[in-house]
Amino acid sequence: MSILSGKNILLGISAGIAAYKTATLVRLFIKAGANVKVVLTPSAKDFVTPLTLSTLSKNPVHSSFTNEDDDNDTWNNHVELGLWADFMVIAPATANTMSKMANGTCDNLLLATYLSAKCPVYFAPAMDLDMYKHASTKTSLNKLQDFGNILIPAESGELASGLVGEGRMAEPEHILSFIENDILGKLPLKEKTVLITAGPTYEAIDPVRFIGNHSSGKMGFEIAKAAANLGANVILITGPTNQSVTHNLIQVIPVISAQEMYQEAHKYFAKCDIAILSAAVSDYRPKHVANQKIKKNTDDLVLELVKNKDILASLGAIKQHQFLVGFALETNNELENAKQKLKKKNLNLIVLNSLNDKGAGFKSQTNKITLIDNKERISEFELKSKADVAVDILNEIISQLNE
Ligand code: CTP
Repeated sequence: MSILSGKNILLGISAGIAAYKTATLVRLFIKAGANVKVVLTPSAKDFVTPLTLSTLSKNPVHSSFTNEDDDNDTWNNHVELGLWADFMVIAPATANTMSKMANGTCDNLLLATYLSAKCPVYFAPAMDLDMYKHASTKTSLNKLQDFGNILIPAESGELASGLVGEGRMAEPEHILSFIENDILGKLPLKEKTVLITAGPTYEAIDPVRFIGNHSSGKMGFEIAKAAANLGANVILITGPTNQSVTHNLIQVIPVISAQEMYQEAHKYFAKCDIAILSAAVSDYRPKHVANQKIKKNTDDLVLELVKNKDILASLGAIKQHQFLVGFALETNNELENAKQKLKKKNLNLIVLNSLNDKGAGFKSQTNKITLIDNKERISEFELKSKADVAVDILNEIISQLNE
């Protein structure tokens, strides 16, 4: 899956011959799973048609402040476009458009959108080699980079003039991989390994029966996905659940029992940077597991249980550089109990769920959490989807790691 999947990309096209390649670029962005909107400078329409671009992008394409097809009474809101975008790509960026961007000129929709955009802006210059070498072009290039815009360097080769040299717009495939690599390189959890436990554990009574619980595993899986989307290598140790995930940064390790989860967690703990233990581990397991199915030939059946090792506490006891996060599900005296658990298990952060909060906990799609860190700082969050809760937890971890 491309890192661009689900991202909103605003493509700004200025008037250079390389504009004909933007049809391919839009196609590549769409294939990568991105949402694409296109803004053209008025003269760019001489090189590539709005119809081609709107068909490929599946969105209306604009080149002026008012909508030409609508008797000029619909305003194309450059501020909204700028806010919609996760990032803007200006390709081709002609000498003229770059100069205007560098100087704050705002005489077309593309430039107004660029000035309004708060997101990262990539620009891919395209022009003849002498124009590219010109001191004024270099000044624009430098100024634009000083403003924080990201240059996708021009390539060398045959130019539309017939001359050969530097100035050709980067090929659409190269623009795509440049942006993907740039985003991946800046992800906050890049090169971090995150260990996550999720789901319930099943403790065998006999070959067909077990002691388990209603944990869906959803919270742990959402944390795994969010961590991978932030660039982490994720080791997801999960008890039996209906959840599934396919992501090239997530290694799923299925286990059944608490003992197996304990072993796997210890196997990977040394190499992880962050460990988030969200599994609902069975506190007890049957002392003896029957080899055969237990027959119902007595009126009473007593199962002798023994305590499972606390995986979280055992990791807390050996932790070195790792940032260790646990969960606490409480019904009363929530904050105090959670603080005690944090201390007792030597955690950096604890995620408190209160069963008194509607929509929080095991089977629900939502969760309401309070985070408490080892300096006793407390942050309360609203009821949110578990996917959003996962992002809140990871953002807190990232901000603490950067402290
Ligand atoms: N945990 C664990 N191994 C266990 C039991 C719990 O790793 N054998 C972890 C859970 O994954 C969770 C946290 O410890 O992160 C929960 O702590 P626990 O003390 O079990 O608290 P509660 O589940 O809230 O239950 P109780 O208050 O009954 O102890």
